[in-house]
Amino acid sequence: MARAIYPGSFDPVTKGHLDIIRRASKMFDNLTVAVLNNSDKSPLFSVDERVKMLKEVCADIPNVKVDTFSGLTIDYAKKCDTDVIIRGLRAITDFEYELQMAQTNRKLMPSVDTVFLTTSLEYAYLSSSIVREVASYGGDIHEFVTEGVAARMREKFSTN
Ligand code: PNS
Repeated sequence: MARAIYPGSFDPVTKGHLDIIRRASKMFDNLTVAVLNNSDKSPLFSVDERVKMLKEVCADIPNVKVDTFSGLTIDYAKKCDTDVIIRGLRAITDFEYELQMAQTNRKLMPSVDTVFLTTSLEYAYLSSSIVREVASYGGDIHEFVTEGVAARMREKFSTN
């Protein structure tokens, strides 16, 4: 059975992420969206909040599950018994970092490949950090995230 993982920060999940999730879910029998639990970063949303939002936006995709992991992505890939890591590529600016990660991961575990999906053009400009910035100033983010995520962001910034 073909499985893949899609690791990331998802702080928060955007329509760009969702586009990658939907397309990858058609290519594999099972796709696990894996939220990195990184104690070094200070995210806007806790891991639990990010998982909750991801579960909501993926609720209609039966072969997608949401999980968390700590440490190396490659170790998590092995734990999931998969040899495929999915990553999205938006623009040339993503390429250097993504290539470096993919090659490092391949050095660490040659059996694991990174499969890149190019983000659909309508979301090519989009990133979680841009969405956080726009939302922090009360800007309209409905083009960038689903309504449920937008509501959570409004809540977050009204209480901060
Ligand atoms: O959504 P992001 O922040 O671009 O995702 C980056 C992520 C989580 C995929 C990357 O930081 C990662 O894999 N972190 C886990 C630690 C790791 O495996 N590092 C070695 C890869 S070079």
